[in-house]
Amino acid sequence: MNMKLLTLIALCAVTSAYKITQLKVPLYADPRRAAELSCQFEMNDHRLHSVKWYRDLNEIFRYNPSQKPTIRLFNVTGVIVEGGECEGGCCMVRVMPTPVATRAAYSCEISTEGPKFLIARETKLMTVVAMPDKDPVIYGAPKLAKPGDQIVLNCSSDYSLPASDINWYINDELQKPELWHRTELSAVQSGGLRASWRILRLSVPSDVTGALRVRCEAVLSVEPPVIRETSVLMTLFSRTHLSKYVSNRGARIVYQDLMLVSVILSNVNMILSVILS
Ligand SMILES: *[C@@H]1O[C@H](CO)[C@@H](O)[C@H](O)[C@H]1NC(C)=O
Ligand SMILES: *[C@@H]1O[C@H](CO)[C@@H](O)[C@H](O)[C@H]1NC(C)=O
Repeated sequence: MNMKLLTLIALCAVTSAYKITQLKVPLYADPRRAAELSCQFEMNDHRLHSVKWYRDLNEIFRYNPSQKPTIRLFNVTGVIVEGGECEGGCCMVRVMPTPVATRAAYSCEISTEGPKFLIARETKLMTVVAMPDKDPVIYGAPKLAKPGDQIVLNCSSDYSLPASDINWYINDELQKPELWHRTELSAVQSGGLRASWRILRLSVPSDVTGALRVRCEAVLSVEPPVIRETSVLMTLFSRTHLSKYVSNRGARIVYQDLMLVSVILSNVNMILSVILS
């Protein structure tokens, strides 16, 4: 600690409080790189004895300006402590979390000189999570479907830690997974990341008109949760309307569904794909 600065602070101090003014702990830490945590403090007219960092109850860092070496690091279960330094009322520690999706409390504690050894302490939580880079992708969805069609959809989510759990929704209604269609996981990548996917077997209902909105949600169950999603729209056409068109060519038919009017015009696929895109 800079003695001139300490003296200056002591002379200018209007209050005698020693306190932690800013604690920076990332909400999420990526297991593939080290996270930097910093603790900024003011001593005012008190003298600093030590600064300590804890992960949960375990000490991982100690700065004691009157000892040699001034900084000591301690590896504990859950993190490798890669480095730490103190300068101008701020102590920084660099930790590499082990690739397990856990949440831990990181605390910074400053203590004044004896005989009182008064302490001030602040704590923040950090969760180990590797975010997916991309939204999930739905494979196998046709743009047009008709009642009775059997469709197999595959929602595939990007690599993450923890692996995403996948939920399917049809028109915003959660589809309960059948036992044999649970979320499947890929092999593990460095940093503990895995991709995942889940199949949805869909039989297009006959009592629905218009369109089916199929949505896939990739959920990382950490605290706070991380959710990414994607959706596709499948337009439904009815067999009876089409055959009516075929047998009444040229007749004046009023359809309520705008999509079906465009079917009459000419090329089914071409026009619909223009409208849908
Ligand atoms: C912490 O563990 C790392 C990796 O095993 C090692 O390189 C480092 O020296 C250890 N640090 C301490 C303070 O024990
Ligand atoms: C679903 O898609 C993923 C990613 O493309 C693939 O690895 C997986 O084999 C597919 N599953 C099925 C049952 O097709």
